[in-house]
Amino acid sequence: MSYRAMPKVELHLHLEGGAPPAFIRGLAKEKNIDISGIFDEQGGYLYRDFEHFLQVYEAACTTLTGPEEFRRLTLAVLEESAAHGVVYSETFVSPDFCGGGDVGAWREYLAAMVEAADEAERTMGITLKGIVTCIRHMGPEQAKTAAKCAAETKGDFIVGYGMAGAEMVGRPGDFAYSFDMAREAGLRITCHAGEWGGPDMVADTIRDLAPERIGHGINAIKDLALVDQIAEQGIVLEVCPGSNVFLNAVPSWEAHPIAKLRDRGVKVTVSTDDPPFFHTTMTDEFDMLARTFGWEEEVLSELNQTALDAAFCDDKTKEAVAKRLAAG
Ligand code: ADE
Ligand code: ZN
Repeated sequence: MSYRAMPKVELHLHLEGGAPPAFIRGLAKEKNIDISGIFDEQGGYLYRDFEHFLQVYEAACTTLTGPEEFRRLTLAVLEESAAHGVVYSETFVSPDFCGGGDVGAWREYLAAMVEAADEAERTMGITLKGIVTCIRHMGPEQAKTAAKCAAETKGDFIVGYGMAGAEMVGRPGDFAYSFDMAREAGLRITCHAGEWGGPDMVADTIRDLAPERIGHGINAIKDLALVDQIAEQGIVLEVCPGSNVFLNAVPSWEAHPIAKLRDRGVKVTVSTDDPPFFHTTMTDEFDMLARTFGWEEEVLSELNQTALDAAFCDDKTKEAVAKRLAAG
């Protein structure tokens, strides 16, 4: 049994990280950019570990030189997502890769993404919203620039603010100013934490950045009092099991804490993170959860409902997506 056809909601997808390698190779060829070193013999992305993954990711991004490239990227990513039953998706987008933090340039990139999202909604039946994401290893000052871009463009498409990148750089409190700026502009907040950092990093993120959702958060499992706090506060985890296994953040699917977190009352959702980088899809995630934990359709539907409840979009969009989920 494959869960490919099941309508799904995905909350944690990096737009550039969804770029099919053939798409990036094509752009590199068009622009005469030599990034042949980031591909393996089969044409997939090649990297050694998480740190190297971030370098390869940024090298791939050098081919995304303007708004038109982001329009094409958005369409390519949504085509893949829609093919795996995703009807609603939230994607991380970074002004750092879209005009270097200049608000005017950012608006142009954004318009191109929105054009693609509108086309995909019409032709593929998938709705996309954006979460502006600062890159942790670029530091707190750059994060403020990203937050300014986010605050200036909050609207129907940009609904949230978050942080990705190398988790071991700095502490969450270093980034509080940018998160406060985004929150004051009315953006909803999520933040990567506990993918590589321990429970202390998750706890500090909750204390200093007050996110409604946490990207990954899996290492909270090492402190059950923290797990209970997350459950009590209703903080939603954007769990990406395939990513965690592929990057060796956990040793195997069997060892993944998603089921333990859910059993203890945490609201968990499932996403792909950077699907072609981790050789996964939303279908693979659902199929592996069913196979590993014996989760049947009822539990898998609950994951989608939890994700929809935690989505940052407006109520009208939620109602429309709820109908898609109910239609099965
Ligand atoms: N950027 C893209 N994927 C990421 C991940 N899994 N963790 C942190 N930053 C990222
Ligand atoms: Zn991520």
